[in-house]
Amino acid sequence: MTTKKKIILFASGSGSNAENIITYFAKNKEVTFPCILSNKEDAYVKVRAKKLGVPFKYFTKEEWKGGEILQFLKNEKADLIVLAGFLLKVPEDMIKAFPNKIINIHPSLLPKHGGKGMYGMHVHEAVVEAKERESGISIHYVNENLDEGAIIFQAKCEVKPTDTPEDVAHNVHELEYQYFPQIIESLLEK
Ligand code: GAR
Repeated sequence: MTTKKKIILFASGSGSNAENIITYFAKNKEVTFPCILSNKEDAYVKVRAKKLGVPFKYFTKEEWKGGEILQFLKNEKADLIVLAGFLLKVPEDMIKAFPNKIINIHPSLLPKHGGKGMYGMHVHEAVVEAKERESGISIHYVNENLDEGAIIFQAKCEVKPTDTPEDVAHNVHELEYQYFPQIIESLLEK
């Protein structure tokens, strides 16, 4: 990688993926994280951001839909926008302004168990309920339809008949920690 790359992270909850990504790139001076943005003022990711020394920026739904966050991303000249456990739908003007620059991670093998209401534990509960024998992660470009953008990468894990949604969540998180930073790195090199 020859030029510096800016990654803007979005997270709505715990932020363990955001932390794992920042830690992965900690020694790489070519990759910077100007801030972690969140639509939840008191999300645990705020605590992680403080620990990591990365500014945390909370925004309202009005700022999200009204163009302020889009303007912020343009001002920052973000090279990659990474949704790491982020739960709001991305406005169309943002998708148009950053073609193939916004990626999301979803905790199932899309197109299975995606779409509205399908996030976090809800996904793993649906997987167990459907008696799936495998689950996994999908990293994809964000388009105007929730969880329907082109798939960049998927990885699978086994789901045993005795597995609880918590077991599935654990195994899926392990895949996320292993692969998400690597996929981000490969996209920055393109
Ligand atoms: C992750 O498992 C991520 O795949 C999922 O939320 C979790 C966030 O965990 N994202 C979605 O469900 C998006 N539809 P984290 O806050 O600890 O990184």
